[in-house]
Amino acid sequence: MAADPFHLAWFTPFKTPAWKSPWAADTPLTWLNGEYYMDMARSLERAGFDFMMFEDSTLVSDTYGGSTENDLKHGLHSPKGDPVPLLPMLAQVTQHMGFIATMSTSFYPPFLVARVMATMDHLTRGRVGWNVVTSSEDLAGQNYGLDHLLPHDERYEMADEFITVVKELWDSWEPGAIVADRETGYLADHTKVHPIHHDGKYFKVRGPLNLPAGPQGHPVICQAGGSPKGRDFASRHANVLLSAPKGVDQMREYRDDIRARAVGHGRDADDVKVMFIVQPVLGETQADAEEIARRRNELTQDQIETILGIMSITTEVDFKQFDLDAPLPDDVTTNGHQSGLEQFRKRTKGKTIREALMGQQTEAVELVGTPASVAAQMDEVMEAVGGDGFLIRGEPVRTHSRRYIDEIASGLAPELRRRGLIRSDYPESTFKANLAAF
Ligand SMILES: Cc1cc2nc3c(=O)[nH]c(=O)nc-3n(C[C@H](O)[C@H](O)[C@H](O)COP(=O)(O)O)c2cc1C
Repeated sequence: MAADPFHLAWFTPFKTPAWKSPWAADTPLTWLNGEYYMDMARSLERAGFDFMMFEDSTLVSDTYGGSTENDLKHGLHSPKGDPVPLLPMLAQVTQHMGFIATMSTSFYPPFLVARVMATMDHLTRGRVGWNVVTSSEDLAGQNYGLDHLLPHDERYEMADEFITVVKELWDSWEPGAIVADRETGYLADHTKVHPIHHDGKYFKVRGPLNLPAGPQGHPVICQAGGSPKGRDFASRHANVLLSAPKGVDQMREYRDDIRARAVGHGRDADDVKVMFIVQPVLGETQADAEEIARRRNELTQDQIETILGIMSITTEVDFKQFDLDAPLPDDVTTNGHQSGLEQFRKRTKGKTIREALMGQQTEAVELVGTPASVAAQMDEVMEAVGGDGFLIRGEPVRTHSRRYIDEIASGLAPELRRRGLIRSDYPESTFKANLAAF
């Protein structure tokens, strides 16, 4: 039996595509002009994707081995462009799909987020979302005058106040406040535009916003909290959640937990869509796909430097200091990406770091096969988990290329569509309404 239709999205940084790939063409030097991502948006909309989500961070890290060499050599967290100005460009070359950019509650003032999101919502006619992150790196904080980030759980408390302020600002103009009445001489009716006078623990904001909210009112809110505090925050505020639990049981547990928490916050569980990270490996035959996956999983020195480099950036623990042939020491803790470190610790239990890296699985489920067999597997997984969709991630070093995008858009997506598993049209006018449609 087929699962209900599910949502399909793509997770990416605004970053160099797979520059070592023989299919990279000139993209390693030209991606910052946005063309690569505009082509990608066109292809994904044709394929029936719901949205593209751009993660972000704002640092060049020297945590790994005390040098920026590893980050820059492999292009891990830098170079990276700000996705915010990219979004309206992508909306300009598409008609229906949604686009999400990341902005951190530790670094932006809430007024700026409210303003830029409202402006983009108008520019895109209701097709943007905000990925709310609290950030994980003191090194990023040091670009904004902070020596350290607040402690992990307190960052979520601050984010909670932040998002409350942003929503109040979006609501500070009543509908119909712009009257543009030549007879009376009023462009905007001041009696319908209200200050918010917010004076809280972290923020003091007078308001009102200096423009009305866009077509979505409150643009789509996206979040990826994994810790208990993060899950609580996400289930209170988000329309869409991104997650990377491992295996069908953990996926179901995560989704059930988020839905139960959402109900606890007085929301309808169906208002929160949970998306699971996957990275399908496609071949013309099963054997082809398995060979590609085998090569992808080989633990080369580059892979080690990439995986441990990313772990070092997001946890701010120098993973270069550890003996690869020994277990991860018990006393390693982080004020950064807590759930990332916990998952790694679980994987290393009873193993050396090297062994854990060999069994490393960054996706929710491994999908390896032909477009038809992977589509069937996605159907089964969604049936077992209950929903709500998959977030495809092109593995950054080798597969984020026009070729890989086309394998998904012209191979996998049509198979999914043929089975009625993904959308074939966008009946609503906004991203948020299309997301809520099933
Ligand atoms: C799919 C996904 C995307 C994420 N995107 C970002 C991002 O763009 N920027 C960021 O600072 N953190 C990002 N994170 C980290 C989360 O915001 C969160 O900090 C992380 O999942 C750990 O959860 P916790 O904060 O509840 O411990 C992402 C996490 C996941 C799973």
